Amino acid sequence: MSSPDLSCNDANILAHLGDEYSAHNDAVVPPVYLSSLFVVPKEELGASKPGKFSYSRAGNPTVDIFEQKVAALERAEEAAAFSSGMAAITSSIFANIKAGEHIVAVDTVYGGMRHLVQEYLSRFNVEVSYVPGDRIEQFEEAIKPNTKIIYLESPSSIVFMLQDLRAVAELAKKKGIITIIDNSWATPLLQKPITMGIDISLHSASKYLGGHSDIVAGVAAGSAAMIDKIRNVRSIYGGTLQPMEAWLAIRGLRTLKLRVKTEGQTAMFIAKKLESHPRVRKVNYPGLASYPQRSLALSQMSGFSSPLSFELDCSESEGMEFVRRIKWFASGPSWGGFESLIYWFGGERRLVRIHTGLEDKETLWKDLKDSLDEIK
Ligand SMILES: Cc1ncc(COP(=O)(O)O)c(C=O)c1O
Repeated sequence: MSSPDLSCNDANILAHLGDEYSAHNDAVVPPVYLSSLFVVPKEELGASKPGKFSYSRAGNPTVDIFEQKVAALERAEEAAAFSSGMAAITSSIFANIKAGEHIVAVDTVYGGMRHLVQEYLSRFNVEVSYVPGDRIEQFEEAIKPNTKIIYLESPSSIVFMLQDLRAVAELAKKKGIITIIDNSWATPLLQKPITMGIDISLHSASKYLGGHSDIVAGVAAGSAAMIDKIRNVRSIYGGTLQPMEAWLAIRGLRTLKLRVKTEGQTAMFIAKKLESHPRVRKVNYPGLASYPQRSLALSQMSGFSSPLSFELDCSESEGMEFVRRIKWFASGPSWGGFESLIYWFGGERRLVRIHTGLEDKETLWKDLKDSLDEIK
């Protein structure tokens, strides 16, 4: 049922792109191709393999449907799916870097990416310069003759800082540098980095795309030539998405629009309430009118999802007690699923991150307020 107009309407892409009823005994839901191998007809021995699939480390029909959907949502030519967000990150980087080269990354980047650079890329003398990323001059100043990648995360997932995607893409293009963005928070529904000139838009699909906290998965989207390069790395490093997880990711995508909308509305409701609570010093949420990068947010995103973070006016132990009293938010470092979560980062800022799930927003706010009111 793939038809050209599906490819530019997100709701239709989410619901139907990749449906081919007649290819699957008229099943309304495509099956899970739990097959490692796709055989060659004996009469074609010696010729190059006619079908699209040969071995599931390189490609699989169920995984292919997930990839097609994400590519269409991102307005990219192609996408490659991975066994985790980290596999998407490592493969996208290894496809574009050689020993002795340099990366510029935002300093609020996801911890796993920081670890990759520090512990592993350093073994190949790949250096990284971190920049706050809120002014284009910071990128200009950090670029060296051997810079090959600018790595962005906008909004970042702890303090929700933004980078100007159009400006960074323009600068990088002039210098022949590849741009990569972790687009997990906004999802391709709220932000389409490829249309703003970014080369690779990647996701931890363990978050919103899967959306049910039942899979670990990743995906990277970009031009056909770029994704071909990344797929070659994936084939050799072996971090390919498995068919069952791809099927669950496709199921997750069917409700992505509904989940992002509801969870984003709840996040906005709670962010505003938190802003006016006397125990809250600061709320970090790009949807708020008070958010310092508000105009940039509106110029490159079409809406706001969850999570958000806030800073408490209390001691470290009072902050932890605040989290312990909370009933509706389980404590854990992930986000993007159906369930509300809270995570204590603490430190001088007494930082707390919450992901607002699909529960009733008034119930969630009452839970937070009751616990905030108890801080002395
Ligand atoms: C912003 C962000 N990017 C990437 C990742 C890594 O994704 P995964 O856990 O699917 O490997 C995470 C995981 O928490 C994340 O929060």
